[in-house]
Amino acid sequence: METNTQTQTTAMPRIGDRAPAFKAVTTQGEINFPDQYAGSWVILFSHPADFTPVCTSEFMTFAAMEEDFAKANCKLVGLSVDGLYSHIAWLRTIKEKIEFKGMKNVEVKFPLIEDITMEIARKYGMIQPGESSTKAVRAVFVIDPKGIIRTIIYYPLSLGRNFDELYRVLIALQTADAFSVATPADWRPGDDVIVPPAGSCGVAKERMENPKDITCHDWFFCTKKIDKETVMKTILKK
Ligand code: BEZ
Repeated sequence: METNTQTQTTAMPRIGDRAPAFKAVTTQGEINFPDQYAGSWVILFSHPADFTPVCTSEFMTFAAMEEDFAKANCKLVGLSVDGLYSHIAWLRTIKEKIEFKGMKNVEVKFPLIEDITMEIARKYGMIQPGESSTKAVRAVFVIDPKGIIRTIIYYPLSLGRNFDELYRVLIALQTADAFSVATPADWRPGDDVIVPPAGSCGVAKERMENPKDITCHDWFFCTKKIDKETVMKTILKK
């Protein structure tokens, strides 16, 4: 990975890249990323700082949804540039004292990486000096079972993430892989999916004149039905 030592910026990983490797200390022991997650989807996400309100609301929400992500073969890994003891104290406070939107006694069981040197945060382009040079922005990397980055989303410090959207992204990626389709705007399981574009004039003509199990709005824009049960059964059994 290319690093500019004068500005301490690092080339950011891109969609389709192999997830940059690292070893780290976490609240669940040491991890060897992404090798030890081979075979699972992973959401690696950063947050700006422990003991801050937006981050607290995010951790509680993610922890409450952890089982849903696990059922879709996805593990969660958090990171901030705070130290291990701060992480431990913060997670204990969340469990013992914080109530938010009906959630309480929330135990964060997924690993939270300590990254005081910012080495990992820099590797992943999580330090964005225009926003903060001392805190990570709210980055989300969705990584597939082969260790390839499939989605990257960044949010600024002030904006808490939408975790229903992160779950939707995970299910949409898995649906695209499992059924060789694409998913249209605002897709949710049960909505029609997009079939790959016609690769020849003959297929385009056939689709328009004699569509089989597909609906074509035009030759390049055809959809088909996959019911929600089929999607979820396929994904959740993996
Ligand atoms: C927060 O999580 O509340 C927060 C963290 C850093 C800057 C602003 C807000």
